[in-house]
Amino acid sequence: MTKEYEFQDHTYDVVVVGAGGAGLRATFGLAEQGLKTACITKVFPTRSHTVAAQGGVSAALGNMGPDDWRWHMYDTVKGSDWLGDQDSIEYMVREAAPAIVELEHYGVPFSRTEDGKIYQRPFGGMTTEYGEGPPAQRTCAAADRTGHAMLHTLYQQSLKHEAEFFIEYFAIDLIMDDEGACRGVVAWNLDDGTLHRFRAKKVVLATGGYGRVYFSATSAHTCTGDGGAMALRAGLPMQDCEFVQFHPTGIYGAGCLITEGSRGEGGYLTNSEGERFMERYAPSAKDLASRDVVSRSMTMEIREGRGVGKNSDHIYLHLDHLAPEVLAERLPGISETAKIFAGVDVNKEPIPVIPTCHYNMGGVQTNYHGEVVTKVGDDPNVLVPGLMAAGEAACVSVHGANRLGSNSLLDLVVFGRAVALRCGETVDPGGNQPALPKDAGQFALDRLDALRYAKGGTPTAELRASMQNAMQSNCAVFRTGEVLQEGIEKMKEVWSAKDDIKVSDTSMVWNSDLVETLEFENLISQAMVTIVGAENRKESRGAQAREDYPDRDDKEWMKHTLAWCNEKGEVKLDYRPVTMQPMTNDVEAVPPKARVY
Ligand code: SIN
Repeated sequence: MTKEYEFQDHTYDVVVVGAGGAGLRATFGLAEQGLKTACITKVFPTRSHTVAAQGGVSAALGNMGPDDWRWHMYDTVKGSDWLGDQDSIEYMVREAAPAIVELEHYGVPFSRTEDGKIYQRPFGGMTTEYGEGPPAQRTCAAADRTGHAMLHTLYQQSLKHEAEFFIEYFAIDLIMDDEGACRGVVAWNLDDGTLHRFRAKKVVLATGGYGRVYFSATSAHTCTGDGGAMALRAGLPMQDCEFVQFHPTGIYGAGCLITEGSRGEGGYLTNSEGERFMERYAPSAKDLASRDVVSRSMTMEIREGRGVGKNSDHIYLHLDHLAPEVLAERLPGISETAKIFAGVDVNKEPIPVIPTCHYNMGGVQTNYHGEVVTKVGDDPNVLVPGLMAAGEAACVSVHGANRLGSNSLLDLVVFGRAVALRCGETVDPGGNQPALPKDAGQFALDRLDALRYAKGGTPTAELRASMQNAMQSNCAVFRTGEVLQEGIEKMKEVWSAKDDIKVSDTSMVWNSDLVETLEFENLISQAMVTIVGAENRKESRGAQAREDYPDRDDKEWMKHTLAWCNEKGEVKLDYRPVTMQPMTNDVEAVPPKARVY
């Protein structure tokens, strides 16, 4: 190793990578149990993307009407189009109420009802009486800044429990040993250019999604799936990546999120004829059908010439009929966003919106304890020692083919907590750990060095734009085999063009050129598994809408996709059965049926 790349070594019981909701919930849960815990994050914790989550977090508290976790489970299984694992879904919805009460006790400033209870609003696909009753008011909200409130509280709790933070450190790669166990992680301190080798009994990937493979996304520019890419480079599969959620209401042009909570508070969509078209597509749930259904309906309206605006290419979201007090109290954040990014006063005018990439249902495969698993031979549930994952980086799988709104904030607190609890059971605080393998971290250094001195002719930004455009035009809301195949060819060209990548800045301190290049490398492997998985899956289910295979095909395709991507960009696919059995006998399995809203 050259002197320039000398490592500073650290040893922890557990290292968490990422400081969004899942990462922070895991971090302080670990520290609270006396485990020596480090959290590595490329942005300051309260700038993590969870801060942008708006509408709320689901839990059957029943504060605003009758509710039951079993109804929440039914809705989530149906929302997932029967691709979610029912044991994991039961775990999540049962843990929801205690997780929210815990958050309240930690200090999350939830909005309140008249009698002082946590305020809950309706969200898409959330019903009562197993879909037979009226919409459920299940989404606990802190106005329309719920993620912001949660993230700040979770960071405060992490500081209280004295977890150690490595802020503005970019995690480059996992340290794996010859037996396939994860033994640590290599990170780069962006502020002073030093390199760090973290040895740990467990590494937790909580790095969020990879929304930035698309040109238009509600995700922050930092959502580059760094954890998923590290897992792929370590030879592990990702699960169900073809399922990408398009949120119905991104602001046209800017892509910023307008929360589904706005429709929960009474907002509705119209086309160029002023028609509330959702009444035709989802007669019962209307504008509060699940997201995949609403996004598809909007796209069909636009395609059939009923879009609004100069180019008839978007839809209007109306909030102008709502009382100004409701907008001010319940939706202040999006009122401001609409003003800044669409120039719209929500009290008077509709907001121009369009389906926008929002969430990755796929991720690193885990069980409901947050332990990463892989497929070896015929066994799809083989533990990867030392590696865990939670939040959007993981695929537990609780969202299956389509996530219900407000189940994401729930997922990250429940499974961040599950990770901490599991480590409490399996990790001996302060206990010995073996020395790192010889050459530990060399893989990360070689990659860093190669990119740092890449002297080709194509800037990273150009390659990234080609990838984002290919994904946006060839792997979006509606898909056909032909369009996907063309997209795969485009993506192969982008992959080959990586050989000509050009990094102009070779410094090690605040080198945003190199950071973006590492991020692009992370994105492109996940773009590959996404588009190849989408082409391969010959059915329509949840967010995968194949026009050439319009029906769900439970006989052939009720199975999870596992996808590996090698250093040449070649994708290998395999499958894992969906777990149809709940975790306990307290609830019955939800059998597949037609999914109508
Ligand atoms: C929203 O408020 O619509 C986003 C929340 C989510 O995706 O669950």
